[in-house]
Order: sequence, then C-alpha cells, then structure tokens
Amino acid sequence: MYNSKIIGLGHYVPDNVVTNDDLSKVMDTNDAWIQERTGIKERRHVVKGDGDTTTTMGVKAAKIAIERAGIDKDDIDFIVFATLSPDYYFPGPGVLVQRDLGIKTVGALDVRNQCSGFVYAISIADQYIKTGMYKNVLVIGSELHSHGLDMTTRGRGVSVIFGDGAGAAVLSREEDNTKGILSTHLHSEGQHAEELSLIAPGMGKRWVTDIIEDNDPQDESYFPYMNGQFVFKNAVVRFSEVIIEGLEKNKLKSTDINLLVPHQANLRISQFIQKKFQLSDDQVFNNIMKYGNTTAASIPIALTEAWEAGKVESGDLVVLAAFGSGFTWGSVIIRW
Ligand code: ACO
Repeated sequence: MYNSKIIGLGHYVPDNVVTNDDLSKVMDTNDAWIQERTGIKERRHVVKGDGDTTTTMGVKAAKIAIERAGIDKDDIDFIVFATLSPDYYFPGPGVLVQRDLGIKTVGALDVRNQCSGFVYAISIADQYIKTGMYKNVLVIGSELHSHGLDMTTRGRGVSVIFGDGAGAAVLSREEDNTKGILSTHLHSEGQHAEELSLIAPGMGKRWVTDIIEDNDPQDESYFPYMNGQFVFKNAVVRFSEVIIEGLEKNKLKSTDINLLVPHQANLRISQFIQKKFQLSDDQVFNNIMKYGNTTAASIPIALTEAWEAGKVESGDLVVLAAFGSGFTWGSVIIRW
C-alpha cells in the first residue's frame, strides 16, 4: 500500500468582483447584514458571454496545478471532478477537462457531493493511489453559481452567499506512509436532502418541460433552497465530529493541527469551529471574505492560497473539513 500526497495546487477565479454594495443595487440587502451573518465582503461572478464555464475555470486551475506538480499532462492517470454546477446535464465535466487539456484517454469521474465534493474527490483519488492502480490523479473542484441564483430580494437569503471559482490538486504516489494523506472520513445523512437543494430541473419532481408548461413566475423550484438556520446547526456539529474522528484515527490532538482549511461555508461556522478547538487565527485559513462560498471549489482555492502564502510547510499537519448539501460531510488528514 502507498500513500498519496498533494504535489501541485492551483486556483482560478473570474476577474469580475461583486461587492455587497453591488448586490444591494439589485435586491434588498446591505453590506452590514451580509458581513455580520456570513463574513463575506465580495465574491466573483462570471460575466455572461466572456467564455468562462465550470469546466474552463477547472481547466485553468488544473493547468497551474499540473505545472507546479512538475509533471507532464500525459502523466495524469485519472481525473476526478467535483461540482454541483456542471456545464451540461450530461456528460459531466470530467470528460470535458480530459478533452480541453488534450490528455490521453484516461478515466474521468464526476463527483456530486456539493460542499463536500472536493473532500470526497480527494478520498477517491487517495484510494486509487493507495492500491497502486494509479500514480497521478488530477482532482478539480469548480463552480459557476452566479448564473443559477435568484438575484432578486426573494432569493437574497441564498444568493448573497455563493460565488464562482475553481481549484485543483495533483495527487501522486508517496512511498513513505508516514507522509501525505493519512486518512479520509466521509459521511452522509440523506434524511435532510431537501434542506439545502436545487430540485428542478430533475427527473424526480420537475423536468424542464414541466417548468415551461407551467410558465409560473412564482416558481422557485429551479433556484437553490436553503434552510439556513438548520444547515448552520448541523454544520457546526458535523464539522466538529469529523475533525475529531480524523484526529483520533491518527492518534492526534487538535493541538497538533498546524493548519485547518475548512470548507468556506460561512465565516461564522469557521469561527465556531476555531473556538471549539481553541485554534489561533494562524491555524485556520479563511478566504470567504473575498470569494463567498464556492462550494466544491472552496477548499482547493483556500488550500492553494494558504500554500502560496507559505502557510503549509513540509511536516505540517493539515486538516481539510467540509459539510454541505445532502447532507454530506468529511475530513482529510494530511502530513504535508
Ligand atoms: N439581506 C438582508 N436581509 C436578509 C437577507 C439578506 N441577504 N437574507 C435574509 N434576510 C432577512 C430575512 O428575510 C429575515 O427577515 P425577517 O426577520 O424580516 O423575516 C432576516 O434577514 C433573518 O433571516 P434568517 O434567514 O433567519 O437569517 P439568519 O440569521 O438565519 O441568517 C444565514 C441567514 C446567513 C443563511 C444563516 O442561516 C446561516 O449562516 N446559515 C448557515 C448556512 C450556510 O452557511 N450555508 C452556506 C451554504 S451551505 C454550506 O456550505 C454548508
């Protein structure tokens, strides 16, 4: 059995900055409300028509990660792409990345675990590398939320939170099993599937033709729904549990953590976790202030920025943790 380690990281966000004040021009909201409840100051939105999609942003992030990994694109053995906002209903973005990167006909897998998508994708890549099946796996998290949000006062409880962007990591075989990804921990609780969801278009309740037929201006089924307070309450519990689970599995304590990179759901959730584990500001990386919640992209964007800022060094204990729609949650324990 091998371990896997992250040998390259990259991220991409669109240039277009949307501040809280910008949002207050199109809906009844304000900078104070958004900052107080979420910590978000601004986010990036793709400008329609400028060419960026979930896939192209993922490809841009991936190119940086591959270059930093010091490998050739044709050394990639497998692609895992996590998103809730794919370019097409099918096929998924994994194959589009394979095409756009111009790499050989390796397998490409799409992961649909929303905010936990990147943690799930890392876990999948890790299993393939551990067993020796693949040596280098490209993992991408990318989201284009802005085109699918209700940018009116009706949607303000959700729309102010989410932003666009992409992050990528190259995982590679590590022979020393005291280094790299030590363990991953995944959970779900489908009982709460609809508490944070986008129901339509889907084959379960409303397909596109139903939406067109009804032609109902009050129809909200094709916008994301979030029971915010319920999500918050579950998030703080599950984040804590899955971090503890990962630490205990490796006989580690929270004081051993050099850097926690939580999914950037809401700054208040990160602060709650930080306080619970008595971590210093230096031990928790947050960038939700600049990008909002970018779902599957938030951990790889944050991890890349932390690495670029020199906050991740060889030998450090790095913990990734996520919670989101499904509900799904998970953690990754890494000895860098
Ligand atoms: N601007 C101004 N007012 C708003 C806005 C807005 N953008 N959104 C809602 N409001 C109003 C509501 O209409 C309501 O008004 P009322 O009292 O007159 O009815 C009031 O603010 C309070 O609304 P609540 O929804 O109760 O606000 P709450 O304090 O719960 O904050 C929030 C909402 C920020 C979503 C919070 O519930 C939360 O942080 N939940 C966690 C969910 C989360 O972080 N999700 C991220 C995605 S999921 C994930 O990644 C884990």
